[in-house]
Amino acid sequence: MEKKNLDWKNLGFSYHVTDKRYVANYRNDAWEEGELIEDPMIVMSEDAGVLQYSQSVFEGLKAYETVDGHIVTFRPDLNASRMYDSALRLEMPPYPVDKFVDAVIATVRANEAWVPPYGTDATLYIRPYMFGISPVIGVNPAKDYQFRIFTTPVGPYFKGGAKPIVVKISDFDRAAPHGTGNIKAGLNYAMSLHAIVTAHKEGFAENIYLDAATRTKIEETGGANILLYDGDNTLVVPTSDSILPSITRRSLVYVAKNYLGMNVEERPVYWSEVKEGNFAECGLCGTAAVISPIGRINDHGTEIDFASGMETMGPCMTKLRETLTGIQMGSIEAPEGWIYRID
Ligand code: PLP
Ligand code: COI
Repeated sequence: MEKKNLDWKNLGFSYHVTDKRYVANYRNDAWEEGELIEDPMIVMSEDAGVLQYSQSVFEGLKAYETVDGHIVTFRPDLNASRMYDSALRLEMPPYPVDKFVDAVIATVRANEAWVPPYGTDATLYIRPYMFGISPVIGVNPAKDYQFRIFTTPVGPYFKGGAKPIVVKISDFDRAAPHGTGNIKAGLNYAMSLHAIVTAHKEGFAENIYLDAATRTKIEETGGANILLYDGDNTLVVPTSDSILPSITRRSLVYVAKNYLGMNVEERPVYWSEVKEGNFAECGLCGTAAVISPIGRINDHGTEIDFASGMETMGPCMTKLRETLTGIQMGSIEAPEGWIYRID
């Protein structure tokens, strides 16, 4: 398979139209057989559920070229079941988990020429999504839905790749208790746009959101979960009912315990603990972010600097990142069932 002629090493996190996309329709109360198509455009009613009441959920995962030249994807079954849960929460008919995984594999296979070569630090980002397509005018779920997957080759989510970023404690809330913070719904991102534009204007790469009820605990950022390292072999992972259950985070917890011999504490983390300087390293984790180190957090003008500094990623985040990407790209043996081979 001849690769496309792209400047793989300099890709940003942006959208390229690739060759094929997957589409399946839910009509007459059932999911129809899906297919790969070429047209990237979607035509729908002016009154589609997604356009009026934002009835949409999505996922994000990646395909990788491995060190020995295969194409693989990472734990797509977990994306499938998370999207299942997201759909139920928004009263959408869930797309079956096995069909989701098959559709991911078919879509990547059809766009194999767009999978960035091993060693370029780029990957093929896979975006499954689902939305209400039939007309609604009273506040109700749509009757018909469309499930789609497109792919796009991407580089690092944050400029500078693995260089530490500066983030701020946001004055906005991301997710209410008992709200939708724990699902991957487009609406969670729509309401974060003003917060991220504001943060960018002020020179910050991202927002850290605190829990909306008490504003005392760390939740997550707009697009990634948070990891903390105590400097003494313990990874501390904030938990909350209103954060997205990151597949990267769950994988890293396993890697920290079983590959790196670390202790892991999964628990609510108070912002005061971080402010008091109890942690040596901090990072963001997610499919897009991989692990991006946080060098500094700004809390209304007070700066909290991590010992790892602003130049390079600290040793703990580096080990976690190298082990995870080694597993994803085939240089480190993966736990059973994590890697799905595509070619
Ligand atoms: N948190 C939010 C809000 C996200 O959008 C994402 C990205 O998917 C994550 C966390 C990380 O989740 P995952 O590791 O499953 O990509
Ligand atoms: C992902 O990591 O896949 C996401 O969906 C996060 C998004 C902010 C790009």
